Amino acid sequence: MPHTLVIHAHPRPGSSLITGAMRQVFEAQPDTSVRPLYDLYPDFDIDVAAEQRALLAADLVVWLTPVHWYSVPALMKHWFDQVLAYGWAYGPGGEALRGKTAWWVTSAGATTSEYAPGGSHGRPFADFLPPIENTARFCGMHWLPPYVVHGGHANTVVQVSACCGGLQQRLEQHLADITTAGAAA
Ligand SMILES: Cc1cc2nc3c(=O)[nH]c(=O)nc-3n(C[C@H](O)[C@H](O)[C@H](O)COP(=O)(O)O)c2cc1C
Repeated sequence: MPHTLVIHAHPRPGSSLITGAMRQVFEAQPDTSVRPLYDLYPDFDIDVAAEQRALLAADLVVWLTPVHWYSVPALMKHWFDQVLAYGWAYGPGGEALRGKTAWWVTSAGATTSEYAPGGSHGRPFADFLPPIENTARFCGMHWLPPYVVHGGHANTVVQVSACCGGLQQRLEQHLADITTAGAAA
């Protein structure tokens, strides 16, 4: 069974509706570790060695965050800066993440029609993915299509539940694919 590492970065987890619900989906899975960054590092003083140890043990790495200013929250970005280090994640000898799978699971306050030409955000959400995608690819990781929940807190309880069901299905498929790829290697 592949091991899943979930890095959850939400500055106010107590007021989270969407990523908090999706976190529960992951927490119910076997062989899964969840690291809540803002609880672990409220002063942004990241334990790089501990984060790298957690990454080494993982097959599937999930970045679970809300969208903040078309990107990830500040501590998630700081985690990229600190943990994905030269000579470890990239550069000479930097092969620690090679072959692992990265998946951005995220929630955006705006709807898909707002993320469109003529909408308030002017362009599709996919246009904002490249910096996150390339972070994973530059470290030799396999990049999965992100799981994006649109509409933020306007989602009803029923809609949030449906999003979690969709997430569960996608997770099971990805884990099956990783298992198959591992058996074939
Ligand atoms: C500082 C900040 C920046 C935000 N930037 C965006 C944004 O660029 N695009 C967007 O669609 N929503 C944006 N939002 C809305 C959040 O993405 C939304 O509230 C969140 O995904 C809801 O998930 P949660 O229930 O886990 O908090 C922003 C919210 C905050 C607080």
